[in-house]
Amino acid sequence: MAGEKPQEPLLNVRDLSIEVATRNGPARIVDGISLTVDKGETLGVVGESGCGKSLTMLSLLGLLPNKISVIGGSAIFKGRDLLAMPHRELRKVRGGEIGFVFQDPMTSLNPVVRIGQQVMEPLLYHRNMSRAEARKRAGELLKLVGIPGAEERLDNYPHELSGGMRQRVMIAIGLACDPALLIADEPTTALDVTIQAQIVDIVKELRAKLGMSIVWITHDLALIAGLVDRVVVLYAGTVVEDAPVDVLYENPAHPYTRGLLASIPRLKDEGAEKLSSIGGTPPEPGRRPAGCAFAPRCPIARAECERAAPALEPLKGGGPHRVACFAAGEIAEAVA
Ligand SMILES: Nc1ncnc2c1ncn2[C@@H]1O[C@H](COP(=O)(O)OP(=O)(O)OP(=O)(O)O)[C@@H](O)[C@H]1O
Ligand SMILES: [Mg+2]
Repeated sequence: MAGEKPQEPLLNVRDLSIEVATRNGPARIVDGISLTVDKGETLGVVGESGCGKSLTMLSLLGLLPNKISVIGGSAIFKGRDLLAMPHRELRKVRGGEIGFVFQDPMTSLNPVVRIGQQVMEPLLYHRNMSRAEARKRAGELLKLVGIPGAEERLDNYPHELSGGMRQRVMIAIGLACDPALLIADEPTTALDVTIQAQIVDIVKELRAKLGMSIVWITHDLALIAGLVDRVVVLYAGTVVEDAPVDVLYENPAHPYTRGLLASIPRLKDEGAEKLSSIGGTPPEPGRRPAGCAFAPRCPIARAECERAAPALEPLKGGGPHRVACFAAGEIAEAVA
């Protein structure tokens, strides 16, 4: 509206870089990632194994493993920089204002602690509830994520539940304190296909009820098609494409994204097949080529791609579709 300032994103990550200390010196794992999540928006983050999805999210929560550290950038969440926040304050944000669900349910739930206690913990820590209040709320939360016989389940141990039910418990823990943002890191990869779809449906329902923003990390673009509003594609620690989900499916402009999407129409006279047919593997941290990191695997790489890394820029005409590829404009036209 005229005169109104555009709304600040809920989360605004700028130029985030992460390094790992190795015997041969520091190696760059995440190289200048920028991304935003708006209020109420669901963002999909996709990319091959090892591209930096998990470490990016862990860095925001102050949970990076040993020897891995943030070396630059900012992450403004509700006006405050998560990366510059004292540890004690970040602990209040983590699990309170930002809920999270990690990759593997068996390592994330404590096997020797009853389900109820694990759901109660964030409520006791962040909300100062009494044990009785927290237990009541925990029962409600398990019901909310569709666990049958929710109240009786509170006294179960994790191994007494199926994988799908355990993952629902993880989501209940992530949502316990009514977070503004839920970060879900491949929350369904360990599950079979029907259960994966059920979890996605549950999260959609919860989003409609609770209105939180979501970052959903995945390998599986098809699974999240009906869930996410926008997708950020990572390759070797950089953002190569950022677009509304329908735009990304219909008009992917980075050769890597086109590789990830199996059913993309072929460009005339150029190989635009599945990634499996592109072949090769991403560069290891510390061995990134000088130019575009994808160039060695790219079916349409040319000389300039080996000289410089393309910046993430809006496709011509501006708008929300941004791509880091020298050939992006041509590809977008050809696919259209
Ligand atoms: N503890 C660690 N020590 C050293 N290097 C690590 C460590 N954890 C991750 N890395 C390196 O950092 C890179 C990014 O890892 P990250 O876990 O963020 O990838 P990812 O995109 O989440 O992959 P996946 O899809 O397999 O979960 C990888 O190349 C990996 O080799
Ligand atoms: Mg990961």
